[in-house]
Amino acid sequence: MAASTKNILIFGATGLIGQHITTAILDKKEHFGRIAIFTSENTLSTKSEEIDHLKSQGVEIIAGDLTSADAVKEAYTGFDTAVSCLGRPVIHHQLKLIELAEQHPDIKRFFPSEYGTDIDYSPASAEEKPHQQKLKVRALLKTVKALQYTYVVTGPYGDADRGLYLSARPSEDEAVGTFDVKRKRAVLLGDGEGRVSLTTMRDVGKLVAAALLHPDAAKNKALRVNSFTCTPKEIVHEFEKQTGGGKWDVGLTPLDKLNELEQQAWVTNDPKAGTLTLRRIWTEGGTLYDQRDNGLIAMEDGVDSLQDAVAQAIEVQIKNS
Ligand SMILES: NC(=O)c1ccc[n+]([C@@H]2O[C@H](COP(=O)([O-])OP(=O)(O)OC[C@H]3O[C@@H](n4cnc5c(N)ncnc54)[C@H](OP(=O)(O)O)[C@@H]3O)[C@@H](O)[C@H]2O)c1
Repeated sequence: MAASTKNILIFGATGLIGQHITTAILDKKEHFGRIAIFTSENTLSTKSEEIDHLKSQGVEIIAGDLTSADAVKEAYTGFDTAVSCLGRPVIHHQLKLIELAEQHPDIKRFFPSEYGTDIDYSPASAEEKPHQQKLKVRALLKTVKALQYTYVVTGPYGDADRGLYLSARPSEDEAVGTFDVKRKRAVLLGDGEGRVSLTTMRDVGKLVAAALLHPDAAKNKALRVNSFTCTPKEIVHEFEKQTGGGKWDVGLTPLDKLNELEQQAWVTNDPKAGTLTLRRIWTEGGTLYDQRDNGLIAMEDGVDSLQDAVAQAIEVQIKNS
C-alpha cells in the first residue's frame, strides 16, 4: 500500500526551525488535508500573535502537555503523520511520542526532530555527545513494527540568526567561527578550504514539505539534503562581493585549535561545548556525501545558492545590529 502523509500534526511549530517547516507546509496546503500544531498552554499565551496568524491560515491548534499520554493520544486522532520540530532540551520526550504513535491506529509516519548534522555519519558518530538523545530516538524507531519514519538531515543552517553558521559572534567568541558584516571580519574554521554542506532554514522547511509530498521515496530513510556545498573561503569571498568588494579581515581557527577549545569547553561545562563539537564535526568533513538526496523528493532545483544565503545573512545581520 502506498504511504500516505496527508493530515499533519506538528510538534514544536513555533520554534526556530518549526516556524520554517510549518510555513513551508502551509505554502503547500492544497496538497494536505488537516494541518495542526500541538503546543503548550504557555506558548498559547506567550506567542499569541504567532498562534493567531497560524489559526488565520487554517491551522488547528491543539494545546496540551507533551508529557501527557492521554493528551497526545487524543491529539493523534485523525492524523496520519507527526512532524516533530522539538528543541534539544525536550528531544527525549519523542521516545514516548513514538511509542504512542506506534500504538495509535491513525499515525503512520513520524518525522523526528533532526534537521541538522548526520548523527549516523560514521562509526565515530555513535560517541559524539550532542548526538546521544537523537541516537536513542533512531534506535527506538528501528524497533517499531507499524510506524514509518523519515529523518531529514540537512547539515548546519546557512543562516545568520544567533549562533548559526553565517552569524556574527561577539569578538571574544570569534574563534568558534564568525562572519561579521559590521566589522568586515571573518574567522574561518580549519584551513578555510574544507567543504561544508549547508541548508538555509527556509530550504529546510521546503525540503520537509517535499518529503511529506513524496512519502514513498522518504519512507524509512535518512534523507541527506542541502541547499549547497562550499568552502569557508568561498563564503567570505561572497560576503566581500556583496558588501562593496573590499577585502575582509580574515582569521582561521585550525582544526587542532578547535579540538582544544572543544575539549576545554566540555571539561568546564561551557554551554558552547555542544556547538564546538558540531563545528569540529563539520570542519572534519562530516556533512559531505558523494551525492545528495534532493532529487528523491523533486528538490534538485529551487533551493538557495551561496549567493542567496549570503544576501539573506547580510539582511539579517543588519536588521539585528
Ligand atoms: N542544523 C542546525 O544548524 C541546527 C540549528 C538549530 C537547531 N537544529 C535542530 O533543529 C531541531 C529543533 O531545534 P530548534 O532550535 O528549532 O528548537 P527550539 O526553537 O529551541 O524549540 C522548538 C520547540 O520545542 C518546544 N519546546 C522547547 N522547549 C520546550 C519545553 N521545555 N517544554 C515543551 N516544549 C518545548 C517548543 O514548542 P512550541 O512551538 O509548541 O512551543 C519550541 O518552540 C533540533 O533537532 C535541533 O538539533 C539544527
